[in-house]
Amino acid sequence: MKKYAVSIILVGIIVILAVVLSGVLIYLKNQPPQSRSLPPVTAVQPLEPDSRIWGLNYPNEYSSLLLTAGNKTPTKYGGSAQQSYLALDPRLVILFAGYSFSQEYNQPRGHQNTLIDIRATKRVTAATHATCYSCKSSDNPGLWSQIGMPAYDKQLFSAMTPKINNPIGCANCHEAGTMRLVITNPAVDTALKAQGIDWRTYTRQQMRSLVCANCHVTYFFSGPDKLLTVPWGDGMKVEDIIKFEDAANTFADWTYPGTGTPIMKSRHPDYELYTAGSTHFNAGVACADCHMPYLRDGAMKYSSHDIMSPLLNPDESCGQCHTDVDDVLARVNTIQEDVHNAKITAEDALVDAIYALQAAVATKNVDPTLLDQARTLHRHAQFMWDFIASSNSQGFHNPDEALRILQNATDLARRAQMMASQAAGDPHLLKTGIYDGMDPKPTPAP
Ligand code: HEC
Ligand code: HEC
Ligand code: HEC
Ligand code: HEC
Repeated sequence: MKKYAVSIILVGIIVILAVVLSGVLIYLKNQPPQSRSLPPVTAVQPLEPDSRIWGLNYPNEYSSLLLTAGNKTPTKYGGSAQQSYLALDPRLVILFAGYSFSQEYNQPRGHQNTLIDIRATKRVTAATHATCYSCKSSDNPGLWSQIGMPAYDKQLFSAMTPKINNPIGCANCHEAGTMRLVITNPAVDTALKAQGIDWRTYTRQQMRSLVCANCHVTYFFSGPDKLLTVPWGDGMKVEDIIKFEDAANTFADWTYPGTGTPIMKSRHPDYELYTAGSTHFNAGVACADCHMPYLRDGAMKYSSHDIMSPLLNPDESCGQCHTDVDDVLARVNTIQEDVHNAKITAEDALVDAIYALQAAVATKNVDPTLLDQARTLHRHAQFMWDFIASSNSQGFHNPDEALRILQNATDLARRAQMMASQAAGDPHLLKTGIYDGMDPKPTPAP
């Protein structure tokens, strides 16, 4: 009898302990994640364009974002000095002949400078559409939600200017209130959907890269109303993008003078190149890991919003994962040199192909079928080269893929040249080394 009572008391205690433990676990699970910041001091309206207001709640993030205005230091292939790509490599004046990129084309710099830089460039003219503001301002998410992207893009750049008052800011990347990272660019949302991707299912670590894809992706302007279009319908590799743009009515940004080639311009496909199986991407590293390292303000940890070349603060950017920072920096240097050299080889091949094509077009009785085949080879070669040339990091984001694509670009360009020579029946068009023989070298178009 006594034994029986002891058992009942023991079982009772176990049951009570179990109930208390479950209660504690449920309570813990429902607590918000530990915040690294102070509690909000002001309520931020949805899509608020003014970063100063968000900054009241998050002073470290805000003040580090402001630092992007003052960065001016160059690195060997990048940095924030806004150097002229056309002066650094005059081959570009030839490769972009007939297009605004042959007039002015500078290295990017920090996020606070977007409005100054877009308004100063010679590439913007009276005919430019508002589409060019898409990646430059925290006013956009609000405007897109009010009038929609098609109505926005249809307007002229000059007509949109009075409505654009803020450079890149919090509203481009964060949802007010929750502060979660979001896709705010409708063209990117559409392009993800076309691949069956719902970014809302992405993990936090995936969003730490995808949020940059709001802007650091290639695109083209579709139709007469210049609708911003991200060409991912067939996938995100360079071949998929070429296929998509070829199908979009053999889309062309411009027709190359004298060769008649419909050329498509690639634009900074940083997200596409990085995610195409790079070592870091496969290891789960995000853009923000290298470009927004954690910093400390007393007891508080925050992500640096002073986004720049990681080569300027390698101890923070690389040192969190790599113990030997000097060693990885030496690797970066080798990778960038190799990719740079492969890029110049592709450019020399493209220049030779362009001169051969121009000569073939000017030849009497040229074979029109072979000439067209030469133009298609030129079109694809130029896009492949530009995919790497216009992407940032000089190949570091994905060295293997960058070298693979540049090799293909060189091969296609040489085949374009051979095809042009065959079309004209003139072996003289196989001459190489045309750029090296130029004296003086080309200067930016007026
Ligand atoms: C493993 C680290 C790492 C990751 C991850 C990474 N980058 Fe970079 N990024 C670099 C390095 C290194 C450079 C080269 C900087 C230089 O040459 O000065 C660079 C250059 C850049 C530049 C040009 C900066 C300049 O000053 O020239 C941009 C823009 C950029 N990265 C965007 C991105 C985006 C967007 C992602 C994600 C899709 C990303 N990066 C992922 C390390 C990284
Ligand atoms: C270019 C995109 C971008 C912009 C612009 C941006 N952020 Fe962030 N922000 C990020 C990323 C990426 C993270 C890292 C998120 C994570 O780790 O979950 C982050 C993290 C944060 C966090 C979480 C704490 C931390 O520091 O890691 C806060 C708070 C924050 N940002 C506030 C702001 C504020 C305020 C602004 C405007 C002044 C702003 N951000 C502008 C991309 C951006
Ligand atoms: C709203 C569009 C937008 C978003 C989102 C965005 N960028 Fe940028 N980024 C730009 C533009 C535009 C420039 C060039 C600005 C200029 O030159 O005036 C730029 C420049 C840069 C540079 C060059 C800075 C320098 O000092 O050389 C780096 C690095 C960079 N971005 C990385 C990132 C990373 C990493 C993310 C995601 C966390 C990101 N960006 C998100 C539009 C964006
Ligand atoms: C969040 C962690 C993380 C950060 C930050 C990071 N790396 Fe890495 N890095 C890795 C991992 C993981 C690997 C793959 C290691 C392996 O597979 O053996 C790697 C590999 C490398 C490699 C060898 C890859 C190759 O293909 O040669 C180089 C070089 C490198 N990192 C350079 C850098 C540089 C430069 C930076 C700073 C700009 C940086 N990493 C920032 C995690 C990181």
